[in-house]
Amino acid sequence: MRSVIDILDLSVEELDELVACAKDIIANPSKYAHKCAGKKLATLFFEPSTRTRLSFEAAMYELGGNVLSMSDAKSSSAAKGESVADTAKTISCYADIIAMRHPKEGAPLVASMNASVPVINAGDGGHNHPTQTLADLLTISREKGRFDNITVGLCGDLKFGRTVHSLISALSRYENVKFVLISPEELKLPSYVKKDIIQKNNLEYVQTTDLESVMPELDILYMTRVQRERFFNEEDYLRLKDSYILTPEKLETAKKDLCIMHPLPRVNEISVAVDEDPRACYFDQVLNGKYMRMALILKLLEVK
Ligand code: CP
Repeated sequence: MRSVIDILDLSVEELDELVACAKDIIANPSKYAHKCAGKKLATLFFEPSTRTRLSFEAAMYELGGNVLSMSDAKSSSAAKGESVADTAKTISCYADIIAMRHPKEGAPLVASMNASVPVINAGDGGHNHPTQTLADLLTISREKGRFDNITVGLCGDLKFGRTVHSLISALSRYENVKFVLISPEELKLPSYVKKDIIQKNNLEYVQTTDLESVMPELDILYMTRVQRERFFNEEDYLRLKDSYILTPEKLETAKKDLCIMHPLPRVNEISVAVDEDPRACYFDQVLNGKYMRMALILKLLEVK
């Protein structure tokens, strides 16, 4: 039995397999319509979500399975003080696989150590979000046809943005990937990601506060929301929230085949006028997330 808590729990070969499986699901959906008949997915979300929870649930339904859903921590026994470990043991009695989002870093790992079914990390605090990275990888594969030889700009809240941490981990295993880290000083990438992943893998990177100066060199621009829920101080959030707002004018110097990504939800970081730009891929990411979650559920349930 395997869980996926960190994107590095999956080898490069397994990522390739999942991308190939997702593309086959897109091409032949009917082939997969009953693959999970009789199986149940439990979605345990202790933090708000639209895309991740509902795409997991849509994924399981499209595989012919069923879903048990907990979308509000206040309505569960966590509100009475039940531990993550006991919750995981309990849900293992009802479901074949668990997707868990939690505000505390490491909570899905604790769940995986106590569950008797696979646990998928659906986002833990400001730490990791491996299934968003699966959505991002399918998007990059469909747009660029490769994961190597690319310059990836990551812009916004690189400190608390868990999707950025997981995407850097995933891409750090490919050749000739250059990261351009664009953020305010206060929201720079945590040193554990920079040292343990980027520097350890001898990857090229630059850090800047100026998006426009680096725009022409980017193959991918990954915008992120400033994560209000992780701030201790509302004043700091209000000061930093609009640090970067992508507009059609700012894209004038960008490559013609730039891929503009965002894990969503967006607040102000990308003007709605950019949605008309053929380089905008963020709603494709949403759909790709469902296909990659279908592929992951099949893999962890060992469905052929
Ligand atoms: N990208 C993402 O995790 O979105 P949700 O918070 O809506 O799940």
